Amino acid sequence: MVADQQQREPGGLGPKGGGAPAEQHAVVIGASSGMGSAIVDTLRAQGVKTLALDLPSASWNDEVAGMTGAVDVTDVASVESALKGAEEAFGSVEIVVNCAGILGPVAPTVETSQETFERIVDLNLGGAFTVTRAALELMLPRGYGRIVHIASVAGKEGNPQMAAYSASKAGVIGMVKAVGKEYAPSGVTVNAVAPASVETPLIQGMTPERQEIQKSLIPMHRFGTVQEIAHLVAYIVSPQASFTTGFVYDASGGRADY
Ligand SMILES: NC(=O)c1ccc[n+]([C@@H]2O[C@H](COP(=O)([O-])OP(=O)(O)OC[C@H]3O[C@@H](n4cnc5c(N)ncnc54)[C@H](O)[C@@H]3O)[C@@H](O)[C@H]2O)c1
Repeated sequence: MVADQQQREPGGLGPKGGGAPAEQHAVVIGASSGMGSAIVDTLRAQGVKTLALDLPSASWNDEVAGMTGAVDVTDVASVESALKGAEEAFGSVEIVVNCAGILGPVAPTVETSQETFERIVDLNLGGAFTVTRAALELMLPRGYGRIVHIASVAGKEGNPQMAAYSASKAGVIGMVKAVGKEYAPSGVTVNAVAPASVETPLIQGMTPERQEIQKSLIPMHRFGTVQEIAHLVAYIVSPQASFTTGFVYDASGGRADY
């Protein structure tokens, strides 16, 4: 059954007469680990049929296993085909959450090669753009959708020795603001979450000294949990979150002050 024939609930009404179908379908990218994995669990627990995507090399834990697939956000064709495949399988895709990202080396800028900078920006920002465009193509004709990217507080404040990472996440924030405004009347919202450090394999890749520096910046004196991020995302992608787009949600334990 296509979305337009389903019973609809208020929220996100666009000019195409869209609105949220009663049955929600989601795609989460970067879903085999960290926040993505927790977001899959949380959405499924809320009754959202959720396809979990990650690199072909990803290994899936028992909780996420079931509805999984492969995608590489640096490969435009791979993203487009994965999202179209999800639409064919589900009938419609209302929610796309992009958690794909890498930190890259934490190192002085003078020791960071051009190739390293470009690889990180291409994946974190270029990938976010590719996912956004492919998701919009599915959602705009239906007049309803929720797109969320995981940016970072590094993109707001800049983290020393993480120039490429910080630049890529600042880029995601700028893109989300632009695209959110551009499609505000469409029924499709485009938002980001900007977490401070969250307990995941990404942060565990830092030296203990660097982890302590990151923690010391957080007024709550602790890292966030993946569940805290997942519940925030679950709200942002809900039909009820219908009057917020182009926005960067905070999840920083008090670190971010704008
Ligand atoms: N952990 C933190 O402290 C923190 C803080 C702020 C923002 N973030 C951001 O949150 C997002 C999720 O990070 P996490 O901490 O859960 O890390 P993670 O390493 O546990 O998860 C990232 C996932 O992205 C996937 N991925 C990497 N390259 C990909 C590609 N080309 N195509 C598809 N998938 C790819 C990885 O396989 C992995 O499963 C990232 O964008 C990260 O930059 C993390």
